[in-house]
Amino acid sequence: MLTLLQSSLHYLFERTEAAFNLFFDDDWNPFYQLGALSFYFFWILAGTGLYLFVFFETSIDGAYSSLQYLTNEQWYLGGVMRSLHRYCSDALAITVTLHLIREFAMGRFTGKRWFSWFTGIPLLWFMFAAAIGGYWLVWDQFAQYVAVATMEWMDWLPAFGDPLARNFLTNEAVSDRFFSLMVFLHFGIPLFMMVGMFVHISRVSKAKSNPPKGLAIGTIAAFIVLSLIKPAISADPADLSLTQLDIPVDWFFLSAYPFFDILGHGAVWGILVGLSTFLSFLPLIFREKKKPVAVVDPDHCSGCGWCELDCPYDAVVFGEHPNPKYERLAVVLEDKCVSCGICTGSCPTATPFQRVDVLKSGIEIPDFTIEDFKGEIIARLGKLEGEARIIVLGCEKGAAYKTLELDNVITISLPCIGFLPPSFVDYLIRKDHADGVMVTGCCLDNCYNRSGNLWTAERFKGERSPHLRTVAAKDDNKVRVRWAGAMELGALKAEIITFSQSLRSDYVPENTTSERFRSKGKNYYGQALFYAAIISFVGYFSTSPTYTRVAEGDATVKLSMRHTGQIIGECRIMSEEELQRLPPNMRQAKVCPRERSSIEFQFLVDGEEAYHKVVEPAGYKKDGRAKLYHRFTIKAGEHEITARLKDHRDLEDFNYQETQMIDLPSRAVLVVDFDPDTKKFIIIGSRAQ
Ligand code: HEM
Ligand code: SF4
Ligand code: SF4
Repeated sequence: MLTLLQSSLHYLFERTEAAFNLFFDDDWNPFYQLGALSFYFFWILAGTGLYLFVFFETSIDGAYSSLQYLTNEQWYLGGVMRSLHRYCSDALAITVTLHLIREFAMGRFTGKRWFSWFTGIPLLWFMFAAAIGGYWLVWDQFAQYVAVATMEWMDWLPAFGDPLARNFLTNEAVSDRFFSLMVFLHFGIPLFMMVGMFVHISRVSKAKSNPPKGLAIGTIAAFIVLSLIKPAISADPADLSLTQLDIPVDWFFLSAYPFFDILGHGAVWGILVGLSTFLSFLPLIFREKKKPVAVVDPDHCSGCGWCELDCPYDAVVFGEHPNPKYERLAVVLEDKCVSCGICTGSCPTATPFQRVDVLKSGIEIPDFTIEDFKGEIIARLGKLEGEARIIVLGCEKGAAYKTLELDNVITISLPCIGFLPPSFVDYLIRKDHADGVMVTGCCLDNCYNRSGNLWTAERFKGERSPHLRTVAAKDDNKVRVRWAGAMELGALKAEIITFSQSLRSDYVPENTTSERFRSKGKNYYGQALFYAAIISFVGYFSTSPTYTRVAEGDATVKLSMRHTGQIIGECRIMSEEELQRLPPNMRQAKVCPRERSSIEFQFLVDGEEAYHKVVEPAGYKKDGRAKLYHRFTIKAGEHEITARLKDHRDLEDFNYQETQMIDLPSRAVLVVDFDPDTKKFIIIGSRAQ
């Protein structure tokens, strides 16, 4: 089931990415840069956030007006900063989510990558917590919804003393102190997130944490345009005495919120915590088969260091060389090596021109040695026939090029294209084993082993050692290097056909790169279209469709109280002897048991029970306060309400009771509380009777 999901997603990504390659080219393709884009959006959020903070007032009254000032009076800078802050957070949610799904789809989360995967999950929680906290700071009606809904959700956990939602019962209940705490959290959480992000990539060697310039400019320009077209604005100021009808929900962060009402708080906790736990342990379900790690042969290693430079997993270090002629010997770290074979491709000794019975290289993977590689080539050569004989050397993770075999085309698969020492291609051409060699692998910037194709591209261009020496490789003459994703098989096939045409004796020189490969490249109109689509998507779903929690014609009732039940048992006067036995500082004439009774609360609307609950006292010794919070809706209009409280379980009847006629306007919030000092119910929110 999971494997089916993975392969379907893989297919979907490959298809989409192939389409994107047509106008972004491999190096700007946003799908290959999702992690880097996430970093980028984070930095934009940090920068714009700092600017906003300069003008932000951290009080309940000041918060709303200070942001209104930025939006209205300073729209050209403060307003744009505010909008960028908002839209880039949405963009971050998109890139991080896609990044997660893509790493899963491409199978890049198991083995050595488990650490990045595992540390990615808390980042998700940090990201959501920071964004949700950010919405509160605006203190408009959307913030009010987010604050109340979040607090009610948090209250489901038995972790908090008093119900957090009590902080938002009435406008007067919201304290500046609590608000400042929220501001502090909105700064603190991203700081933790930043540390988490660096931990996340700490085991990724040469991690791409900056997107290419073109993509960086394109995305920020797009979001600036969106900020000008649809500036982020506040809803009406928060008013806790009313509920809102059409809440402009940011669906990128709050899609779980309607489920509080549909499924209940516990279910949403269950789903989110369950999903996070499941995802965290996914690398254990998809366990990778351990392959034998690379082995260094001291007889061939000269300590040149090229393998260390190229290993994408930082798995090569150096030790002492047994031969005093050499300064150092490559040493493979077993716990880091994934047997990709890229180091074999780097090693200058991995060459087929050796005059030995068995080829040897300084560093090799036991599953596929250079002797195995040469053996396979020689074995397959017999199948090559006719003119324009082509050998395709490809990576097993790339396009399914094996299906492209023809009489004059054979294909040989390598564990990673980075495995290919260029000298093998020199060898094939110079020994006339083939008329042409095609080197292929996944698109640049999308190597399963991170840099295998990049190093190969550089080696074949002569920009990285070891180089390809064959002069015939120049101008695509006899050696072609073409990168193609799994869904670009057609393009690769067309390229092989044109390549083989160019190798024929009757060939008249012209541009023989296939149409499909020529059409790959940077198409700025196509990119503009993509940016237009993305800003429309973000612009729309950041506020629409709106969500109505309480319908027109309904009113909300919030029942909330904190009350300490009466003592269970009797107080007792201590006898003189008992007092004498105690140390002087502990002598008390009267001692009472600590345990408190549960409290029982009943609420009637028009004579019918609408709520009834017995609440146990808090604390391990049952000596704390009993707390209660419950929200529900009733029809607006006139009602007779009765609140009853019993604070000793042995009492026959409720010992506190209040009945009132109330008139609730549509959307009004009626709060019913109990004052433990005056022992009276507090009923707020109805229209005066
Ligand atoms: C704020 C959130 C995140 C940021 C900024 C972020 C950023 C990055 C970056 C920059 C890389 C290196 C990419 C590369 O060089 O190819 C990376 C790798 C990775 N990330 Fe994330 N990431 C985030 C969240 C996540 C999440 C939620 C997951 C999944 C649970 C995840 C899974 C991975 C994995 C498995 C790798 C390793 C890829 C590899 O070694 O090829 N990341 N991340
Ligand atoms: S096989 Fe791959 S991971 Fe192992 S040392 Fe060589 S390059 Fe590094
Ligand atoms: S590339 Fe080869 S010769 Fe150079 S250090 Fe690595 S194993 Fe030794």
